[in-house]
Amino acid sequence: MNSFDIVTYIKSYSFDELSDEDRMLIDCARQATEKAYAPYSNYFVGAAIMLEDSTIIIGNNQENAAYPSGLCAERVAIFQAGALHPDKSVKTIAIIARNNSGFTDDICSPCGACRQVILETENRYKNNIRILMCAKDKVYEVESVKALLPLHFSNEKL
Ligand code: THU
Repeated sequence: MNSFDIVTYIKSYSFDELSDEDRMLIDCARQATEKAYAPYSNYFVGAAIMLEDSTIIIGNNQENAAYPSGLCAERVAIFQAGALHPDKSVKTIAIIARNNSGFTDDICSPCGACRQVILETENRYKNNIRILMCAKDKVYEVESVKALLPLHFSNEKL
Protein backbone atom coordinates (compact mmCIF):
# COMPACT_ATOMS: atom_id res chain seq x y z
CA MET A 1 0.00 0.00 0.00
CA ASN A 2 1.47 3.40 -0.80
CA SER A 3 0.59 6.72 0.75
CA PHE A 4 -1.77 7.66 -2.06
CA ASP A 5 -4.04 4.65 -1.71
CA ILE A 6 -7.23 5.74 0.03
CA VAL A 7 -8.41 2.73 1.99
CA THR A 8 -11.75 2.84 3.71
CA TYR A 9 -12.32 -0.84 4.34
CA ILE A 10 -13.86 -1.27 7.78
CA LYS A 11 -15.26 -4.61 8.99
CA SER A 12 -17.92 -4.80 11.68
CA TYR A 13 -18.36 -7.68 14.12
CA SER A 14 -20.31 -8.70 17.17
CA PHE A 15 -18.16 -10.09 19.99
CA ASP A 16 -19.16 -13.71 19.38
CA GLU A 17 -17.77 -13.52 15.84
CA LEU A 18 -14.28 -12.71 17.08
CA SER A 19 -11.37 -15.08 17.68
CA ASP A 20 -10.56 -16.02 21.28
CA GLU A 21 -7.35 -14.02 21.00
CA ASP A 22 -9.18 -10.85 19.94
CA ARG A 23 -11.79 -11.30 22.68
CA MET A 24 -9.05 -11.70 25.27
CA LEU A 25 -7.28 -8.56 24.04
CA ILE A 26 -10.52 -6.59 24.20
CA ASP A 27 -11.06 -7.85 27.76
CA CYS A 28 -7.63 -6.44 28.64
CA ALA A 29 -8.67 -3.09 27.13
CA ARG A 30 -11.92 -3.20 29.14
CA GLN A 31 -9.97 -3.82 32.36
CA ALA A 32 -7.54 -1.03 31.47
CA THR A 33 -10.42 1.50 31.55
CA GLU A 34 -10.66 0.84 35.29
CA LYS A 35 -7.27 2.46 35.89
CA ALA A 36 -7.76 5.42 33.55
CA TYR A 37 -7.22 8.83 35.14
CA ALA A 38 -9.99 10.91 33.57
CA PRO A 39 -11.46 13.22 36.24
CA TYR A 40 -12.10 16.01 33.71
CA SER A 41 -13.85 14.19 30.86
CA ASN A 42 -15.18 11.15 32.76
CA TYR A 43 -14.49 9.30 29.51
CA PHE A 44 -12.35 6.34 30.52
CA VAL A 45 -10.43 4.78 27.65
CA GLY A 46 -8.56 1.49 27.68
CA ALA A 47 -6.17 0.23 25.04
CA ALA A 48 -4.51 -3.17 24.82
CA ILE A 49 -1.73 -4.01 22.42
CA MET A 50 -0.63 -7.43 21.29
CA LEU A 51 3.02 -7.71 20.31
CA GLU A 52 4.44 -10.20 17.85
CA ASP A 53 5.23 -12.74 20.61
CA SER A 54 1.71 -12.34 22.13
CA THR A 55 2.93 -10.10 24.96
CA ILE A 56 0.09 -7.76 25.95
CA ILE A 57 0.70 -4.15 26.97
CA ILE A 58 -2.11 -1.95 28.26
CA GLY A 59 -2.65 1.79 28.41
CA ASN A 60 -5.37 4.16 29.54
CA ASN A 61 -5.95 7.88 29.26
CA GLN A 62 -4.06 10.04 31.74
CA GLU A 63 -5.54 13.51 32.04
CA ASN A 64 -4.16 16.71 33.54
CA ALA A 65 -5.63 19.98 34.83
CA ALA A 66 -3.57 21.61 32.07
CA TYR A 67 -5.62 19.70 29.51
CA PRO A 68 -3.12 19.32 26.63
CA SER A 69 -0.62 17.77 29.03
CA GLY A 70 -2.72 14.60 29.28
CA LEU A 71 -2.33 11.63 26.95
CA CYS A 72 -4.69 9.21 25.21
CA ALA A 73 -4.85 5.52 26.10
CA GLU A 74 -3.50 4.44 22.71
CA ARG A 75 -0.34 6.50 22.97
CA VAL A 76 0.23 5.51 26.60
CA ALA A 77 0.09 1.86 25.45
CA ILE A 78 2.20 2.29 22.31
CA PHE A 79 4.89 4.29 24.08
CA GLN A 80 4.94 1.77 26.92
CA ALA A 81 5.40 -1.03 24.38
CA GLY A 82 8.23 0.93 22.75
CA ALA A 83 9.83 1.57 26.14
CA LEU A 84 9.65 -2.04 27.33
CA HIS A 85 9.95 -4.04 24.10
CA PRO A 86 11.55 -1.90 21.38
CA ASP A 87 12.57 -5.04 19.50
CA LYS A 88 9.02 -6.45 19.16
CA SER A 89 6.53 -5.37 16.53
CA VAL A 90 2.93 -4.47 17.34
CA LYS A 91 0.30 -6.74 15.78
CA THR A 92 -3.04 -5.48 17.11
CA ILE A 93 -4.46 -2.69 19.26
CA ALA A 94 -7.91 -2.88 20.87
CA ILE A 95 -9.61 0.29 22.14
CA ILE A 96 -12.74 0.73 24.22
CA ALA A 97 -14.22 3.53 26.33
CA ARG A 98 -16.73 3.85 29.11
CA ASN A 99 -18.39 6.78 30.80
CA ASN A 100 -20.25 6.83 34.10
CA SER A 101 -23.08 4.77 32.51
CA GLY A 102 -20.86 1.94 31.32
CA PHE A 103 -19.18 1.00 28.04
CA THR A 104 -20.21 3.32 25.25
CA ASP A 105 -22.76 2.47 22.55
CA ASP A 106 -20.50 4.05 19.94
CA ILE A 107 -17.09 2.67 19.12
CA CYS A 108 -14.01 4.46 20.40
CA SER A 109 -11.79 5.28 17.44
CA PRO A 110 -8.34 6.80 17.82
CA CYS A 111 -7.89 10.56 17.60
CA GLY A 112 -5.78 12.08 14.84
CA ALA A 113 -2.62 12.29 16.92
CA CYS A 114 -2.91 8.62 17.95
CA ARG A 115 -3.50 7.61 14.32
CA GLN A 116 -0.26 9.36 13.42
CA VAL A 117 1.62 7.52 16.18
CA ILE A 118 0.13 4.17 15.12
CA LEU A 119 1.27 4.92 11.56
CA GLU A 120 4.81 5.62 12.73
CA THR A 121 4.72 2.30 14.62
CA GLU A 122 3.62 0.46 11.46
CA ASN A 123 6.48 2.02 9.56
CA ARG A 124 8.96 1.38 12.37
CA TYR A 125 8.32 -2.36 12.39
CA LYS A 126 7.32 -2.62 8.74
CA ASN A 127 4.01 -4.35 9.37
CA ASN A 128 0.36 -3.37 9.47
CA ILE A 129 -1.31 -3.02 12.85
CA ARG A 130 -4.90 -4.25 13.16
CA ILE A 131 -7.10 -1.83 15.07
CA LEU A 132 -10.13 -3.14 16.97
CA MET A 133 -12.40 -0.19 17.78
CA CYS A 134 -14.92 -1.39 20.33
CA ALA A 135 -18.25 -0.36 21.74
CA LYS A 136 -20.50 -2.11 24.25
CA ASP A 137 -21.92 -4.54 21.67
CA LYS A 138 -19.83 -4.27 18.51
CA VAL A 139 -16.33 -4.05 17.10
CA TYR A 140 -15.05 -2.32 14.00
CA GLU A 141 -11.79 -3.57 12.56
CA VAL A 142 -9.32 -2.07 10.13
CA GLU A 143 -6.22 -3.95 9.01
CA SER A 144 -4.06 -0.86 8.98
CA VAL A 145 -4.28 2.67 10.33
CA LYS A 146 -3.90 3.77 6.71
CA ALA A 147 -7.63 3.05 6.39
CA LEU A 148 -8.19 5.85 8.93
CA LEU A 149 -5.52 8.22 7.65
CA PRO A 150 -5.69 8.77 3.90
CA LEU A 151 -3.06 10.98 2.29
CA HIS A 152 -1.01 10.74 5.47
CA PHE A 153 2.35 12.30 6.17
CA SER A 154 5.03 9.95 7.40
CA ASN A 155 8.77 9.47 7.76
CA GLU A 156 8.77 7.93 4.27
CA LYS A 157 8.46 11.49 2.92
CA LEU A 158 11.48 12.88 4.74
N1 THU B 1 -9.14 9.68 24.47
C1 THU B 1 -8.38 8.55 24.39
O1 THU B 1 -7.70 8.17 25.33
N2 THU B 1 -8.42 7.86 23.24
C2 THU B 1 -9.24 8.12 22.19
O2 THU B 1 -9.24 7.40 21.20
C3 THU B 1 -10.14 9.28 22.24
C4 THU B 1 -9.94 10.20 23.39
C5 THU B 1 -9.16 10.40 25.75
C6 THU B 1 -8.51 11.74 25.78
C7 THU B 1 -9.21 12.39 26.94
O3 THU B 1 -8.60 11.97 28.15
C8 THU B 1 -10.60 11.78 26.91
O4 THU B 1 -10.50 10.60 26.14
C9 THU B 1 -11.67 12.68 26.32
O5 THU B 1 -11.26 13.19 25.09
